[in-house]
Parts: sequence; structure tokens; C-alpha cells
Amino acid sequence: MKTLTIIIFSGFFSLSSTLASAGLLEDKNCGSCHRLNAEETEKSFTGPNLHYAGNKFQPKWLSEFLKNPEIIRPGGFINNPGFLKGDSESQPPHPSFPEEEANAMAAELMGLKITKQTSVTTEPLSKGQRAKIKYQFERTFSCISCHQSLNLAGKVRGGISGPSLVNAGNRLQADWVADWLSTPETYTRKGRMPHYKMDPVTLIQFTRFLMMLKKENIK
Ligand code: HEC
Ligand code: HEC
Repeated sequence: MKTLTIIIFSGFFSLSSTLASAGLLEDKNCGSCHRLNAEETEKSFTGPNLHYAGNKFQPKWLSEFLKNPEIIRPGGFINNPGFLKGDSESQPPHPSFPEEEANAMAAELMGLKITKQTSVTTEPLSKGQRAKIKYQFERTFSCISCHQSLNLAGKVRGGISGPSLVNAGNRLQADWVADWLSTPETYTRKGRMPHYKMDPVTLIQFTRFLMMLKKENIK
């Protein structure tokens, strides 16, 4: 009876445009694997959090992903190892959609926000700054031990325990990256990445460095 009331009500409310747009992700059952609501803190999910998708992703990348899902965490998602890697027959591929539906879902995801960020410049680094940050990415902080990125020859290299950063410049918002590097606790309660104490200048340079990583630069 309770469910019926909810169905009737949601049908009614979906006449209003805001709630109609919040409905597509629900209709497609995305919430069975992804957190779409900041309030859902009790449940554990088999896919990454999406309740701050509008802070984190670039809309064009979201549409592309939903048309043609790609592996971002080559080591598997922590709660769902092997997913999308095709190494388990029982794992179906990630749902994918035709253009129009993918765009509508991307727009809905862009509406899911939890913070208001300050804006960070995305201007590319100079050659010298880039070399300096690249050194720190590989040596000082050893980001590369957990994250795939591109070396100077345009080859993919790096560890697989963290999400791939090879396409970070097309996938992530610069503001979110800076936020993640300074206050990851906004987005995750028990992060698996070390919390670095970077000075503000280095932090922005790291952000700009990551924004220069794009898959079209793979050689
Ligand atoms: C069976 C579980 C499952 C369902 C259902 C599912 N996803 Fe996913 N999704 C995943 C997993 C696992 C990943 C992580 C893939 C990776 O990192 O390689 C993922 C990744 C994503 C990403 C990239 C997120 C990131 O942080 O990189 C987006 C966006 C996404 N899914 C959207 C959706 C949408 C929209 C729906 C509903 C149509 C949906 N997913 C349904 C399991 C699922
Ligand atoms: C010990 C492994 C490890 C190291 C070292 C590491 N990371 Fe991470 N990183 C992770 C993991 C795991 C995640 C996924 C979030 C989580 O589980 O907390 C992540 C997430 C990220 C994200 C967000 C990506 C996404 O799609 O969600 C960025 C950006 C990032 N790391 C950048 C860096 C940078 C820059 C450094 C070096 C200064 C670094 N990481 C060092 C493990 C690591």
C-alpha cells in the first residue's frame, strides 16, 4: 500500500519539470549501485558515489560515458571488484544508452551537487612548472604508484589501485580536483588515498597538471 502511494505520488509529481528530471536516474535503477543522495549514508554501494556528480564531472564526459562506458578503475571498484573488466561472466556490462537518453541523464547528474566550490584557473602550466609537478607526481608524492597517467612519450603508465587519471582533463572539473586534494573528507568518509598537506600554490599546480591529462594525448 505504501509503495502504491509512492508510485501514485511520484507519477503526479513528475508533471513538474524538476522532479521529472530527478526521475530518470531512478527509473533506470542507477540508485541500486550508486549513491544518488547525500542522505543515504547507511547503505553501502557497489558503484562509486554520484550524489556530487554535478560538482565532479564534466557534462560532456558523462554523456560519452553513458553512451559508451569505459573502465576508470582498472583494479575494479572496491565494492565490486572485476566489474567492467569482463573477468567475470556473472558481471553484466555497465548500462549504456542512446544519445538522447544519455544526454538527459548527464543533465540530471549535473544537478546533483553537495558543495559550492571556489573557482580554480585551468590555464595550462608552463613547460618548467609541468616538469616540476610531473617530478612530484612521480617521486615526491608517488601519485603514480596508485594512478595511471601519461608519461612524456604519451604512454599510459602507473598503478591501478586508484581511478585512472589518464583522461582527468576531460572527465573532472578543476574546482572539484582542487577540493579533493585539499578536503577529501567532503566527499568520502574513509578515503583510501593518503591526505597530502600541499601548500596552496602546489595544490593549484597539481590541479592544472591533472587537467592537462587527456586521452587524445595517448600515443
Ligand atoms: C550493477 C551496478 C551498476 C548500475 C546498475 C549502474 N552503475 Fe554506474 N557504475 C558502476 C560501477 C561499478 C562503476 C565504476 C566503473 C569503473 O570505475 O571502472 C560505475 C561507474 C559509473 C560512472 C562513472 C563514475 C566515476 O566516478 O567514475 C557514472 C557516471 C555512472 N556509473 C552512471 C550510472 C548511471 C547514470 C546509471 C543508471 C543508468 C548507472 N551508473 C547504473 C555500477 C553500476
Ligand atoms: C596509495 C594510493 C594513492 C596515492 C599514492 C594517491 N592516490 Fe589519488 N586516489 C587513490 C584512491 C584509492 C582514490 C579513489 C578515492 C578513494 O577511494 O578514496 C583516489 C582518488 C583520486 C582522485 C579523484 C579521482 C576520481 O575519479 O575520483 C584524484 C584527482 C587523485 N586521487 C589524485 C591524486 C594525486 C594528485 C596524488 C598525488 C599527490 C594521489 N592521488 C596519490 C589512491 C591514491
